Order: sequence, then C-alpha cells, then structure tokens
Amino acid sequence: MARKIIIDTDPGQDDAVAILLALASPEIEVLALTAVAGNVPLHHTERNARVICELAGRPDLPVYAGCDAPLARPLVTAEHVHGKTGLDGVTLPEPGIALSPGHAVDFLIETLRREQPGTITLVPIGPLTNIATAFQRAPDIVPRVQEIVLMGGAYFEVGNVTPTAEFNIYVDPEAARIVFASGAPITVMPLDVTHRALTSRPWVEGMRAMGRIGQAVASWTDFFERYDREKYGSEGAPLHDPCTIAWLLKPQLFSGRYINVEIETRGEYTLGMTVADWWRVSGRDPNATFIREVDAEGFFALLTERIGDLDRRVG
Ligand code: RIB
Ligand code: CA
Repeated sequence: MARKIIIDTDPGQDDAVAILLALASPEIEVLALTAVAGNVPLHHTERNARVICELAGRPDLPVYAGCDAPLARPLVTAEHVHGKTGLDGVTLPEPGIALSPGHAVDFLIETLRREQPGTITLVPIGPLTNIATAFQRAPDIVPRVQEIVLMGGAYFEVGNVTPTAEFNIYVDPEAARIVFASGAPITVMPLDVTHRALTSRPWVEGMRAMGRIGQAVASWTDFFERYDREKYGSEGAPLHDPCTIAWLLKPQLFSGRYINVEIETRGEYTLGMTVADWWRVSGRDPNATFIREVDAEGFFALLTERIGDLDRRVG
C-alpha cells in the first residue's frame, strides 16, 4: 500500500524538488498540495505548486490555497533566496491547471476526518500556518494523523534567517508551537541534516543531461545555490525539503534522536528558535524525532534514480 501524504508547501525551488521526488515514487500517494505563504506570498506559492504539478505531468493533482499570513505576525518572505516568483531559475508556462476550490485548511480537516485514522501523513515544508490552523479549528483531527514529517528548525547548525532561527519556524513560531505541542508523531528535518544534503557539480550536471524535468531541477538548484555560496562560501545548494520525502522512502539514510523540542515565541533575540534538548537535560518529555545525519551519497542516488524515472515517464 502506498503511503498517503499531503504536502504543505511554499515553493520554493527546494520544495519543487521535494514534490517531484514524491510524485516520482510509487511508494507514495500524494493526495494534494496545500499552499502556504512563506518563501513568497501565497499567490505565488499556489501558482508555483500548480506549475510543478504540470511539469510532473500531474494535472489531476489537487492544489489548494491556504493561509496568506502567519497566525500572529506579519509575513516574512525570502525573495532574496528564491527570486521574485519563488521559482526563479527556470521560466515555465503559466499553469493550465486551475486551483482547487476551497481553503487548504478545510481540505486538511475534511480529509483527516474522512480517511481512516493513522493513514494520512502530513509533510509540511514551509511555515506551519495551515497545519496549526487546522489543528486549532478541529482538534479532533490530531490523533488521526499518522505522522508529521516536516522541514524546519535547527540546533547545532543554529539559524539561517536569524542567528538562532530557521526560516519555516521563524515565519510563524506560534504555529510551530501549536504543532510541536499537539501530540502528533513528528519527525523533524532541521538544518543540521539538510546542510549535509548539498548538491555537487557532477550531480547537477547529471540532472541537466536528463529531460525537461531534470533540466528544471538543475536550473533551480543552480539559482538556489548562489545564495548559500555567497553566504556560507559553500559549494552546493542544500536540498532542505526533499529530505522529508527521502525519509519516507528510505529512512535508513537518516539518523537522529527522539527528544524534546520546544519553540521560542517570546525571545528578543531567539524568536523562532527550536530548542532541541539533544542531551536530554531539560527533563521535558520527548515530542519529536530530530534528525541530524544523512547518507548524502545515498540521498542523491535516490534523487537521481527517481527524477530520472519521472523524466522518462513524462519528460
Ligand atoms: O529554511 C529552509 C526552508 O525555508 C525550506 O523549506 C525552504 O523552502 C524555505 O521555505
Ligand atoms: Ca519550503
């Protein structure tokens, strides 16, 4: 049985690669994409989600627009990283696919209430506004969630948008606090692991040698890489969001610990920090599997295999 997932996303070049990896993999059934404001405003993220579905030959996949602002603070975006459209690096045609009617939060609630408990995995790879809003409006759906596998947070790698906070958590820390306190099973892909999933020139050129899907991935990662190269002096783009899908496909590629993770929502200098009790000194109950290591070679081999499969199928 394929694992049923809903990807909550703010595309975002790395979101795009995560979505393509999921759509390329028969072990996963993507029920829908739910768009959230994050890297760029909602009208861009929902359009980008539809562009990605069209590129992947999936005009049938529902795309819902969700929350256009965080729960309790103004939206912070990241055009300086992802470009004005959020998918800079490749010019793709306006999507012919229409946005699905209805709000993403209503879709999340209705789907979790309809499907068998424990059969739906949520994969948030942007700010957690949609997920938290659904949990607040319908607390009954929380125990029905099979697992939340999210990209967000950092501990040893500290922050990327402030010295202490990672972008997805920082944009909506109140939403993150709700999700981490919900009691749903959570697996976290923080910067600690995603900064180990750095693209290499040979890998990108391998993508460019494929069909139009591999070529799009190559151009998106080239665009995305320039920011980290300027900031960290590192070669390679960190493929943050695809780590969530790779976990679902090959968890053996990753390792981490089941620990307590709290979200700072009041700190003057630490707003949005994921306070990960890696050494278990707080006495607080564990609430998340916090991933720190990845077999990068295995990760990129999986991406090459699956993007290649998708390209051969629809490229
Ligand atoms: O900090 C990295 C995260 O922020 C990724 O999800 C990226 O797409 C951006 O949303
Ligand atoms: Ca993202």
